[in-house]
Amino acid sequence: MQNRSPHLSVLYHEIILALSPKSPGFYVDATVGAGGHAWGILEASGPQGKLLGLDLDPQALALACQRLAVYGERAILRQASYTTLRTQLAGLAWKEVQGIVLDLGVSSMQLDTAGRGFSFQADGPLDMRFSPEQPTTAADLVNHLSEQDLADLIWRYGEEPQSRRFARAIVGARPIHTTLQLAEVILKAAGGRHQRNHPATRTFQGLRIAVNRELDSIEEVLPQAIQALAPGGRLAVISFHSLEDRIVKQYFRRESRDCICPPGQPVCTCGHQASVRDIDRHGITASEAEIGENPRARSARLRIVEKLELA
Ligand SMILES: C[S@@+](CC[C@H](N)C(=O)[O-])C[C@H]1O[C@@H](n2cnc3c(N)ncnc32)[C@H](O)[C@@H]1O
Repeated sequence: MQNRSPHLSVLYHEIILALSPKSPGFYVDATVGAGGHAWGILEASGPQGKLLGLDLDPQALALACQRLAVYGERAILRQASYTTLRTQLAGLAWKEVQGIVLDLGVSSMQLDTAGRGFSFQADGPLDMRFSPEQPTTAADLVNHLSEQDLADLIWRYGEEPQSRRFARAIVGARPIHTTLQLAEVILKAAGGRHQRNHPATRTFQGLRIAVNRELDSIEEVLPQAIQALAPGGRLAVISFHSLEDRIVKQYFRRESRDCICPPGQPVCTCGHQASVRDIDRHGITASEAEIGENPRARSARLRIVEKLELA
């Protein structure tokens, strides 16, 4: 049963089942957000299991702090990027951990707070930073990138087929300061019509990924997470779009193989050794019941690996 929260944790039961937290174990929620998954891990690993929760967002962390206060010293929370996982664990002298969860992307609280600038459902400043300490906002990118660089960003991180047309329209409408201003410029460039999704959806995704260096961060954390696991420990990653999922899938596939030589090479020369076992090759998606309750769960995919004994 999930504790009450402004953010409904996606694939909550699947995460708890995947990690099967036990007392006394060490666990990391590297994207603690409102503390939903963390709460479940602390409940299941009582009375002695410990959890380190990380988040870049001080507002999310304040909420997690409040919710997890009942667990006292069992819950340790830090405002930090998950890319610093190795350093954070060293600081606590935790040599290895039994489970790590990464629930990527943006929370409902962040999306629903107009002042954070993640969404065009309400007007707000074009910000999109997970942490106010990050140097670059979405407005900086929108107003200062060249048309070519903006088009590349929208194409690469938003997978937007009309990236060139949208970049041209944005450059022509500068300066753009708010989410609704940007959404309107894109709607007009798209011909003023839309079907299921607003035409600005992919551009907003692209900007958010670029502002927060999200894909680079995932690439940085995965090796650290696998290295931190104790034999038999598990890493569970929830992604919300194909760009994130591709990185996770390819990394898990590579790390679960003994040889990563190019296909067709007659003799192995790479010396690579599998460090993990892939628990579900295709990933786990949300049930219709969960999607009914929380439409955000529709695009979620959970991938899990388990550290091998000899790795
Ligand atoms: C989907 S929410 C997590 C929700 C959480 N699992 C729960 O159950 O409440 C994702 C969180 O990851 C955080 N985040 C994004 N990038 C991060 C990074 N590089 N390091 C740490 N936290 C990050 C966001 O600020 C956001 O709060």
